[in-house]
Amino acid sequence: MEKSWYNISIIGAGKLAWHLAQALTDAEIKINQVYSRSEASATKLVQRINQGSATIEKDFSFSSSNIFFIALPDDVVPTVLNEFHFPESALLMHTSGTLPISVLESVGKQIGVFYPLQTFSFGKNVDFKKIPICLETSDENCLKQASFLAGLLSNEVHLISSEKRKSLHLAAVFACNFSNRLFALSEDILKKEEIPFHLLSNLVNETVVKAFEIGPEKSQTGPAIRNDIKTIEAHTQLLNGDSEKLEIYKLLTNSIRGIK
Ligand SMILES: NC(=O)c1ccc[n+]([C@@H]2O[C@H](COP(=O)([O-])OP(=O)(O)OC[C@H]3O[C@@H](n4cnc5c(N)ncnc54)[C@H](OP(=O)(O)O)[C@@H]3O)[C@@H](O)[C@H]2O)c1
Repeated sequence: MEKSWYNISIIGAGKLAWHLAQALTDAEIKINQVYSRSEASATKLVQRINQGSATIEKDFSFSSSNIFFIALPDDVVPTVLNEFHFPESALLMHTSGTLPISVLESVGKQIGVFYPLQTFSFGKNVDFKKIPICLETSDENCLKQASFLAGLLSNEVHLISSEKRKSLHLAAVFACNFSNRLFALSEDILKKEEIPFHLLSNLVNETVVKAFEIGPEKSQTGPAIRNDIKTIEAHTQLLNGDSEKLEIYKLLTNSIRGIK
């Protein structure tokens, strides 16, 4: 494969599309079209990457693009995608952690999944080279096209089936979304005492680094793993009147202690 072979269209101009389009542009890969429901968001994205044209049309049958990234919300893909028409020879790939590859079967023959395992927000840059890209394709030829492209964007490319990706996504929800919710609850506890959340930054960073260096089981510290009942009781006293935090505290404390 050669970089110059790629001619890409992105369906969607949201958070994922925003970062993917930037990474493709940085890698000097041609973006032909960006579709969005509203012209404004597609136009904003093509202006940012300074290539391609914005469109709100769903008929791509005569498009010269050979790769289509589907970057629409997960609940929208199975329904709205059927309103689109793509060139027969193009490779269509969705970017979802949860949707199976089969969701694309009704709109194309050459299909795949190109799932970057990262959380994307507007206005927060990410280093795409470090993001694991999870690939799955309908055949070997599609795999060649997808894996060469993925290799241009990232140093970490993995082949993961739809079945395994479901568990990967679930694990990511535990590790990323749930941890972040705990950060928010923790910030709330500190706010009441007018202590800046930033004080926890070094501790949290070390916890994450350690979990990946020696493993989360070995890294566990704190009153629950020490079976320090006095401290646990003091904490539950402090949380009296805040039923949500108290319930989460008890649940996680019991989980760490191995109590079902
Ligand atoms: N965000 C992440 O952190 C992340 C990470 C990995 C994978 N992904 C995957 O990437 C995909 C896109 O997610 P996202 O976070 O980028 O979504 P998003 O920010 O909500 O953007 C969705 C895009 O789809 C368009 N859209 C929404 N509803 C539509 C409809 N009914 N018909 C046509 N177009 C519609 C929106 O158009 P308008 O702009 O005009 O409203 C927008 O351009 C999902 O499959 C998601 O699982 C996301």
